[in-house]
Amino acid sequence: MDAAGLSVAVWVLSLGMSSDPCAGHTYVLDDGAGLGRVFDGIGGLSGGGATSRLLVNYAEPYRSQILDFLFKPNFGASLHILKVEIGGDAQTTDGTEPSHMHYENDENYFRGYEWWLMKEAKKRNPNITLIGLPWAFPGWVGHGKNWPYDYPDITAAYVVNWILGAKQYHDLDIQYVGIWNERNYDSKYIKLLRYTLDKSGLEGVRIIASDNLWEPIALSLLLDPELSRAVDVIGAHYPGTTTVKDALQTQKQLWSSEDYSTLNDDIGGGCWARILNQNYVNGLMTATISWNLVSSYYEELPFGRDGLMTAEEPWSGNYVVESPIWITAHSTQFTQPGWTYLQTVGHLAQGGSYVALTDGKGNLTVVLETMTHDHSVCIRPPLPPFNVTSQNATFQLKGSFASIQELQVWRSQFNFKTKKPSFFEKLAPLKLIDGSFTLNLAEDEVYTLTTITAGQKGSYPEPPPSARFPKAYKDDFNVRNPPFSEAPDFADQTGVFEYYINLTDPGPHIFTLRQVLTQRPVTWAADADQTISVVGDYQWQNLTVSCDVLMESVKTGVFIAARVDKGGQSIRGAQGVFFWVFADGTYKVTNDLAGNTVLAEGQSGTRAYSWHTLSLTVKGQYASGLLNGYPLWKNAVVLTPGNGWAAIGTHSFELAQFDNFAVVAE
Ligand SMILES: *[C@@H]1O[C@H](CO)[C@@H](O)[C@H](O)[C@H]1NC(C)=O
Ligand SMILES: *[C@@H]1O[C@H](CO)[C@@H](O)[C@H](O)[C@H]1NC(C)=O
Ligand SMILES: *[C@@H]1O[C@H](CO)[C@@H](O)[C@H](O)[C@H]1NC(C)=O
Ligand SMILES: *[C@@H]1O[C@H](CO)[C@@H](O)[C@H](O)[C@H]1NC(C)=O
Ligand SMILES: *[C@@H]1O[C@H](CO)[C@@H](O)[C@H](O)[C@H]1NC(C)=O
Ligand SMILES: *[C@@H]1O[C@H](CO)[C@@H](O)[C@H](O)[C@H]1NC(C)=O
Repeated sequence: MDAAGLSVAVWVLSLGMSSDPCAGHTYVLDDGAGLGRVFDGIGGLSGGGATSRLLVNYAEPYRSQILDFLFKPNFGASLHILKVEIGGDAQTTDGTEPSHMHYENDENYFRGYEWWLMKEAKKRNPNITLIGLPWAFPGWVGHGKNWPYDYPDITAAYVVNWILGAKQYHDLDIQYVGIWNERNYDSKYIKLLRYTLDKSGLEGVRIIASDNLWEPIALSLLLDPELSRAVDVIGAHYPGTTTVKDALQTQKQLWSSEDYSTLNDDIGGGCWARILNQNYVNGLMTATISWNLVSSYYEELPFGRDGLMTAEEPWSGNYVVESPIWITAHSTQFTQPGWTYLQTVGHLAQGGSYVALTDGKGNLTVVLETMTHDHSVCIRPPLPPFNVTSQNATFQLKGSFASIQELQVWRSQFNFKTKKPSFFEKLAPLKLIDGSFTLNLAEDEVYTLTTITAGQKGSYPEPPPSARFPKAYKDDFNVRNPPFSEAPDFADQTGVFEYYINLTDPGPHIFTLRQVLTQRPVTWAADADQTISVVGDYQWQNLTVSCDVLMESVKTGVFIAARVDKGGQSIRGAQGVFFWVFADGTYKVTNDLAGNTVLAEGQSGTRAYSWHTLSLTVKGQYASGLLNGYPLWKNAVVLTPGNGWAAIGTHSFELAQFDNFAVVAE
């Protein structure tokens, strides 16, 4: 549909003007003049990065319950789309996700949790649309440079391998693939990706570009017909519900391929309601994808609780079904990808918006929102102030819908004045008189009116209460949790820490955790120069961390740490108490990951290819360390930070192993 569709909506508004202010406006819903664009669905994004990290470690039945709230049709969010990060070994906002090819001659399609997540989603909804997008790439892809397009054939083959692996090892059909998240694209690379997909029998996989702003990709597509043939969808991030002329002119599907990114409290739910409707009303976007899918990362990492729901406590089993789940359900449970928007969509006269979609077989779903400015604040981009007031809205059904006699009604009320919101309530069906009905709309409400009767507000018994991370924690890495390659609760912030088996070891170090990167990746955020994985309770102040360590290089060092105060994109600036030993026989205690502030140093006799046991105790303003059970240093003065996670890591991108990790916190 083009701008003509919008003018129809405006024209309908003015027709509805009435002299009685109480009667409100009349809005016509009609397919008589043709339909609008085809709807592609609503989705969530796992990754960019490591946003589902803690989900995999939930015990049953809680893990399945969370997945049901996300993916099970007619239960909760009932998502149509799952987009995942193609792990690239680098820090991509809340952690690193492992690549399927750490090294050039390495291929492994069982790392990380995205394969598992996609399979769980598909188990619940066999029709779910799957999308993959890289944020970062292993270092070898860029031949050591932070740029994946110098060797476009290598990058394309790397991405296509991931899609082939999804099919071969997990029977997953990836339907869409992107270029490089929120980074420049390269037209030559996009064309080569198309060619490589086709050559590999993946003609059906469609390309999204460029997961950044509308421009310059829209203009490039207009100017370059070959590029335009390669790209199927323009995906823009955080479009603020609007698009641009060039994008409309390409005639491509327009998607908000990353959106929302707002705290998932009730105001966040209001933001999501407004986005879901107005991305089409204002911007003709036919898919919207939430960053992120589920808040399953330590809350103190960047953008804590920005997912559709919260599941950040695998140790307690507690999870929270937040308002965005039910706001999603208002649309997803009563539409499917392949339905078509009516041209008659638009803004409500006293603020808010409405969309209407049909399956082309007589079914109609209308979603309305009257979110007020203050109660639907999205983090990016902030919207200029606007007013919404209570209003009466009359809808007149015409065309194929003229004879509809009854509509199912679902309502959410944010009720900020009474502080008692209610979400996704089924009301009595609405009887239509001559194809018409009137709604008395209050502020901050969402309504679905639909011929579809299958909707359901799914529920489970309350999960266990929220609890802090256990104060005594240990992992010898012997008991593993297939199919995952990572140890529970460790959240890699630079580097990749994987389960490792050394069958030639006589014991006790057959099963260990190994940092496996040997080269700096093609990064997306600013990775640290060291590798680090954090674990535990951010509020920990006084604790003892201990771990067995093995350096597999004479050039490196390893550390254990406490009170690590930063992660995610801020990892380079992390402070804490870091106890390092090096293969050259020295040790160091530093106040920061970068190693600039030295609190103590000296000889340790540590060397590569030999196991050592490190122990670090921090209490109040003092820290001390043991090596192999003997005091090595003590009374190092630690003024800041006062609290933070425990951590392990390496001094550089070199192999190292960790075993018998333990924390005892006060
Ligand atoms: C809506 O209509 C009802 C009568 O049906 C009237 O009492 C009410 O004031 C109207 N509301 C508004 C906001 O005009
Ligand atoms: C999947 O899509 C097909 C075709 O549209 C439909 O018949 C089927 O009911 C859908 N299955 C689910 C679980 O939604
Ligand atoms: C609407 O959808 C339902 C369920 O998918 C289907 O059975 C029915 O035939 C459709 N058409 C109408 C007019 O309800
Ligand atoms: C919202 O309404 C108030 C009070 O009527 C008015 O002063 C203000 O200009 C309006 N703001 C916008 C953006 O329309
Ligand atoms: C595996 O164990 C053997 C025997 O202890 C040891 O020599 C070797 O260095 C270990 N290899 C790795 C990669 O840890
Ligand atoms: C940590 O230890 C210091 C010094 O003993 C004490 O003042 C502080 O209250 C302790 N913090 C916690 C959380 O126990």
